[in-house]
Amino acid sequence: MKGIVFTEFLEFVGSSRGEDFVDDMIAEAGLAESAYTSVGTYDFNELSRLLGAYCSLTGESSSRALNGLGRHLCGVFQKKFPEVFGSCGGLLDFLRSVDGHIHVEVRKLYADAELPRFEEIESGPKQLVLDYISCRPLADLAIGLIEGASEYYREKVAIVVRPVVADAGVRQRFEISVC
Ligand code: HEM
Repeated sequence: MKGIVFTEFLEFVGSSRGEDFVDDMIAEAGLAESAYTSVGTYDFNELSRLLGAYCSLTGESSSRALNGLGRHLCGVFQKKFPEVFGSCGGLLDFLRSVDGHIHVEVRKLYADAELPRFEEIESGPKQLVLDYISCRPLADLAIGLIEGASEYYREKVAIVVRPVVADAGVRQRFEISVC
């Protein structure tokens, strides 16, 4: 997993809970140090441990924490890649471009990025059905990113998540509607 996810998780936690909390969380996770760099690559297991420590110290669910991280990351991506957001006409256009364009560019920058797949199941002017496919349990991070992007485009979004039974755990269906 790319370091930007780690550095931004620590930034997100530090800005809401303070730097001492970040140190406590790293200790609770049993990790020796927090010298993550945004271009480095780290084991996904380390993110799980940090997330677990965050949840046990705060009592928050991991779903809520991942949603918050997704929204925070969306703000970071808006600053870092304004042209990507500016070149899309709206939320659904933007989401349609993640798999075939945005993550393809990310892969060019970081050959070792561990990216999810998004498969388009249905597409209409106000609705998009996407399957999130990943061996990492980060659907809530994706939902946070989508909700963050909906704020950027000033569109109200409703998202229903359903597991796809045949592929449980790996594939989740996002039914996304805008109004
Ligand atoms: C400008 C927009 C975006 C950029 C630059 C971007 C970039 C990235 C990067 C760098 C990673 C980390 C890869 C790794 O850890 O090795 C990542 C992972 C991820 N991205 Fe994106 N992304 C963008 C938009 C989105 C959007 C809109 C979604 C949701 C629909 C999304 C969903 C995810 C998820 C869920 C992961 C975690 C990996 C996994 O689930 O397997 N991304 N992305």
